[in-house]
Amino acid sequence: MGIQLRGRHLLTFDTWSRQEVDLVLEVAHDLKRRYALGEITELLKHKTLFMIFYEQSTRTRNSLEAAMTQLGGHAHDLTPDKMQLSHGESPKDTARVLSRMGEGIAVRICFYQVGHRYLRELAEYATVPVISMQDDVYHPLQVIADVMTLQEYFGRDLRGLKVAITWAYATTHAKPLSVPQSQILLFPRYGMEVTVAHPPEFPLQRDIVERARARAAEAGVRLEFVDSMEEAVRDADVVIPKNWGGFAYFEEWRDAPEQWEAMKAHLEKYRHWTLTPEIFSLARKHARIMHALPADRGHEVTDDLLDGPHSIIYDEAENRLHTAKAVLALTMGGR
Ligand code: CP
Repeated sequence: MGIQLRGRHLLTFDTWSRQEVDLVLEVAHDLKRRYALGEITELLKHKTLFMIFYEQSTRTRNSLEAAMTQLGGHAHDLTPDKMQLSHGESPKDTARVLSRMGEGIAVRICFYQVGHRYLRELAEYATVPVISMQDDVYHPLQVIADVMTLQEYFGRDLRGLKVAITWAYATTHAKPLSVPQSQILLFPRYGMEVTVAHPPEFPLQRDIVERARARAAEAGVRLEFVDSMEEAVRDADVVIPKNWGGFAYFEEWRDAPEQWEAMKAHLEKYRHWTLTPEIFSLARKHARIMHALPADRGHEVTDDLLDGPHSIIYDEAENRLHTAKAVLALTMGGR
């Protein structure tokens, strides 16, 4: 195929070509099949991945650690308090030292207007692949699992699929913008028609929206923004209810108490933004529900929908493993 991904950083798939993303998906489908057959796939034997988590994680942490085990290598599960990061060690020194000891560095850091910059700095100095496990802007490992799951349910050719990504109420925490932002950047490149619904106080980042519009124009597909969940869900093939914080509403996010208070007040105005069976009935008959998880059950979406026949949330979660294996095998191993 002539594609060489060994040594490649993955901070966002938006800087990877369509052929490169296709290769990751092909390898993920193949590794899933081989895993089902019980085949040993020690493609990263004796190799080490350093995983640094500034935030909590269930799916990302365990999919990557299991991926490294299944590929014959090992993952270090690290947090800043286990490292000199908590004493302010620089990204440059961290990247250079870890590059001397293993074959990959993966980081989750979601602080708004901090996370992606930090990852870029690490990537500048690392001599092994730096892989984003989610930052404030992008979540590449989630969006690739989403595309794989859609291909399993709707076929490899996703052109014309109508996807509704709708903001939803949640009380658990102000979730990052990175999942919907990664989806609006990648889904149009696969020919999907995307409608995003959100209240005005919960926008996505303007620069990402502009870039996503450009991606949609290049692909000749529609990308729309509306302010009603019902409008987005009507006639959709796929419905993704998802909370995200109102960080991008402010000209500059300062993590100040008054901004958190304002965001909380905005949130309470939209308590009714829950995906219910009534709203979901506006979607097409065969429509599927996806969610990156963790879900705020009863707030973002009702239990009966998440546990019902239209939900594909656990396939989506499982595919985090197979796609992570593909990304790691291709970037840390390969030719
Ligand atoms: N979807 C996702 O990234 O889940 P975790 O936060 O549990 O890793």
